[in-house]
Amino acid sequence: MNTKREQIFVWSRNIRLFHWINVIAITLLICIGTLILNAKLFGVSTDGKILLKTIHVIVGYVFAINLLFRLLLGFIGKSYEKWGKILPFNKGFSQELIDFKEHKKATYKGHNPAGKLMLLALFSLLFIQMISGLVVAGTDIYYPPFGQSFAESIAIDKQNIEAIKPYSKVNVDEEAYKAMRDIRKPFITAHFYAFYGLIFLIPLHIIGVIFAERREKTALVSAMITGYKYLPKEKAE
Ligand code: HEM
Repeated sequence: MNTKREQIFVWSRNIRLFHWINVIAITLLICIGTLILNAKLFGVSTDGKILLKTIHVIVGYVFAINLLFRLLLGFIGKSYEKWGKILPFNKGFSQELIDFKEHKKATYKGHNPAGKLMLLALFSLLFIQMISGLVVAGTDIYYPPFGQSFAESIAIDKQNIEAIKPYSKVNVDEEAYKAMRDIRKPFITAHFYAFYGLIFLIPLHIIGVIFAERREKTALVSAMITGYKYLPKEKAE
């Protein structure tokens, strides 16, 4: 069998940039999120909690803008930037999966079928984190894009919205505040469970990359830095 390989360009600069910004942002968000989740255990004061949430939200904006950029690229981008190339919705995907299980194909230019399923799960959870995080940022520390509307909805004196501060009852209508917390509930619940989903799937994604590299030997990891994979030449020389 011919084992010669050729260098093939797969991951565009946009994809690689998205990937590494995403990795850094998610790592920070998971660390700060874990601190928020265990604030009592770590003896964090109310001011400390507000600071942690503020930092989490600012990193969250970077994460959200990066994710929105990637979601858009899936529609307007080229080649492997497109959803059709990376998600498991293409025609013949189930056959692709069977062939993959039976080791019928040695290498893949883009993602193998297991990788496509993983991407669908990861992108779904990231999307849930983005939407739920943006809503909760509005109900918790009154940050954009929804903070102003939530603050207005709970204010007794609508001319004095600036008086509404996190963890303070000044200018807050108790009934309206309760109604806002009811709106918040499903979003914080989604944020909480998607967090556990991510800390389960991210290690699985890394293990998947290691297994795929052992099986396909296409230099998967460096491909996410340089953009190039090493694939067997089509014809034996
Ligand atoms: C992968 C992305 C993210 C992860 C893994 C993550 C993780 C977490 C975790 C574990 C918590 C604690 C949950 C709790 O207290 O029950 C949290 C809270 C929070 N997150 Fe995120 N988050 C992400 C993205 C975002 C984004 C994009 C925003 C908004 C821009 C955001 C805003 C918030 C806010 C405001 C809280 C405080 C809610 C509270 O506990 O009162 N998050 N996040």
